[in-house]
Amino acid sequence: MRKPFLAGNWKMYKTLAEAKALVAELRASLDKDPVSREVLVAPPFTALASVAEALRGSGIHVAGQTMHSEKEGAFTGEIAPAQLKDAGASHVLLGHSERRQLFGETDEGVGKKARAAFDNGLVPITCIGETLAERESDQMFAVLERQLERALRQLSPEEAAIAVVAYEPVWAIGTGKVATPAQAQEVHAFIRKQVAKSHGEGVAAAQRILYGGSVKPDNIDGLMSESDIDGALVGGACLKAESFLRIVRFN
Ligand code: 13P
Repeated sequence: MRKPFLAGNWKMYKTLAEAKALVAELRASLDKDPVSREVLVAPPFTALASVAEALRGSGIHVAGQTMHSEKEGAFTGEIAPAQLKDAGASHVLLGHSERRQLFGETDEGVGKKARAAFDNGLVPITCIGETLAERESDQMFAVLERQLERALRQLSPEEAAIAVVAYEPVWAIGTGKVATPAQAQEVHAFIRKQVAKSHGEGVAAAQRILYGGSVKPDNIDGLMSESDIDGALVGGACLKAESFLRIVRFN
């Protein structure tokens, strides 16, 4: 009942010309041989409007990589929810671990942004995940529970059912050290149980939980065979059409 969701986070990569070339390839392939899966790209802000324009009518969603929670104001360098929407985004990534670790994002701030996303017609894809030190010192579940609770607490059950959660263990991001399908499944099942407690069984059954962290063409099939893994948030492997398309077309 949960449609698989394959998302590519481009991070700080791609010029405008490179961005257009990549989405042209993705679109051509998926137009020719469509998939009944949700596909999304999250380009840098500079390419957002052009990418959205190039993908119009394709069914491929476009997301911002972060945003501010305020409507507008004197926040140099930031981007407002309505500006993302205006540029053609339907979704927004929130609380990526790189935002949390390198740019000081907090659990509370991420929760506020999730509220602002829905208030502006954007679907949040909120990232949570433990560091290696937290996993090794048995704090993993407590950390995930706290991050998840703050991320979803301002959402109604209807919104929480639509919101997407991405489990991205920090130790697996960009390291080539993917969580095993069993490790990821254990956490995804835990997340779903927490959502059932906070927002009800129906919401938990509907919510898509993505795995992210060194997802590649050669490990996606194993990850997607787990019952609580509903998709992937892909970094490095989404920068080339061939590898991202192989992930989109997982078996
Ligand atoms: P990698 O796939 O490069 O490990 O990045 C994962 C990620 O951070 C996606 O948001």
